[in-house]
Amino acid sequence: MKDYSKYFNGPSLKDAKHRGKDAIHHIEDAYEVPTDMIGIGKGQKYFIQTYGCQANERDSETLAGILETMGYAPTDEIKDAQVVLLNTCAIRENAEEKVFGKVGYLKKLKRTNPNIIFGICGCMAQEEVVVNKILEKHPQVDLIFGTHNIHRLPILLKQAMLEKEMVLEVWSKEGDVIENLPSHRAHPYKAWVNIMYGCNKFCTYCIVPYTRGKERSRLKEEILKEVQELKDNGYQEITLLGQNVNSYGKDFDNDYNFASLLEDVAKTGIARIRFTTSHPWDFSEDMIDIIAKYDNIMPAIHLPVQSGNSDVLKTMGRRYTREQYLTLFDKIKEKIPDCTITTDIIVGFPGETDEQFEDTLSLYQHCEYDLAYTFIYSPREGTPAAKMKDDIDIHTKEQRLYRLNEVVNEKALKQNKRFENEVVEVLVEGTSKKDDSMLTGYTKHQKLINFKGNPAHVGQIVKVKVTEVKTWALKGEEIE
Ligand code: 5AD
Ligand code: SF4
Repeated sequence: MKDYSKYFNGPSLKDAKHRGKDAIHHIEDAYEVPTDMIGIGKGQKYFIQTYGCQANERDSETLAGILETMGYAPTDEIKDAQVVLLNTCAIRENAEEKVFGKVGYLKKLKRTNPNIIFGICGCMAQEEVVVNKILEKHPQVDLIFGTHNIHRLPILLKQAMLEKEMVLEVWSKEGDVIENLPSHRAHPYKAWVNIMYGCNKFCTYCIVPYTRGKERSRLKEEILKEVQELKDNGYQEITLLGQNVNSYGKDFDNDYNFASLLEDVAKTGIARIRFTTSHPWDFSEDMIDIIAKYDNIMPAIHLPVQSGNSDVLKTMGRRYTREQYLTLFDKIKEKIPDCTITTDIIVGFPGETDEQFEDTLSLYQHCEYDLAYTFIYSPREGTPAAKMKDDIDIHTKEQRLYRLNEVVNEKALKQNKRFENEVVEVLVEGTSKKDDSMLTGYTKHQKLINFKGNPAHVGQIVKVKVTEVKTWALKGEEIE
């Protein structure tokens, strides 16, 4: 094994576990572009490939904004780019495999065009196993930087241009909130708005608390200013983002919490508000009341359950039982009867028995979710579950996933049928990729709908009569 100690700036999952009492700093002026980097990208292009969740999508918008302030222009063609960034996800092994596939491809590209700057960032950059593998096997990578180092991109890019050695900067223990970063938003009518970063829940299977650091909330003034600016610029919809939005404000020394923020955001009058993700453990009754009270908070909640069995939930470190989850679920449905509820489920968690899996199925039958994202458990090095005995064979895991997905599809169709022949409100996003005579968008309940309508209405909220209902989407006609 080579000595990588010179890369003192590398990640450490052990450090990332640390949750100290240090104050969280809200920093307004951490971002700087060295004067010789301003305009350095003029006439050149950048390409960013994003993997994983909305937090990464939002980070990529920031990376794009930063590169554009240096003069780079975006391209969809990786071959035309002088700067290529892979913004990676570490949540499951297959997410990581995809990235390594791309790294292999980029190695070849770099052989024909050695001047490309090739960088890897995002959650995988926070893992020492990954970084060591890149150092060892993929020295063509020019730059690795972590989720806490995004604002340092201009400085790191400069180093990568000047130095022959790979540039590595990953901070593991982080407690700051960096404001005033530029961004190039991916959509013209709907936007992600970060409200907090990091996660302190430490579910035993999950790498996120390590890759994203400790919970840090943005100040409400910053969030409300951002929402107001988006509204003033014609945005119709915002999604408040956090690994667990319900934790918003727990790091403040006052009572301002997620319910308070939701209400203040609703009062800005922006047409549509969504939020993701919510942990069932701290989903408060106040939150339910606020969602029910304001028409511009969309009746669509993502409420990951992970398992329907209390013992499995306990080993997962989820902090609620099956019964407590169901009580919350039923309360939401009682106060917001038409609410769409979606979920995440892991099958084949270490030690999960057939009976315990049946509990997940029976919970699903009760909840009849609108949709579920279902996963086979994937051990993540450094997490407590990775040390548990994983003695369920892959065939059984696949069978469980298959059986679960059958129910997921059946219920998705059943829930979509609620909207058959109804008139729904749709934010028109553009023409359908598959058929350009059709428009496409999402309903208040977060249902994808393709419909015949007026292309001049792109970017507006219109009324659409639902004419056909499928498992994954609705079809309809705009009502003039
Ligand atoms: N294996 C499988 N699925 C996982 N998830 C998180 N960590 C793992 C893992 N190690 C799933 C959870 C989470 C979603 C974003 O990804 O269901 O809610
Ligand atoms: Fe993937 Fe989680 Fe990182 Fe999002 S926060 S990119 S889901 S590991």
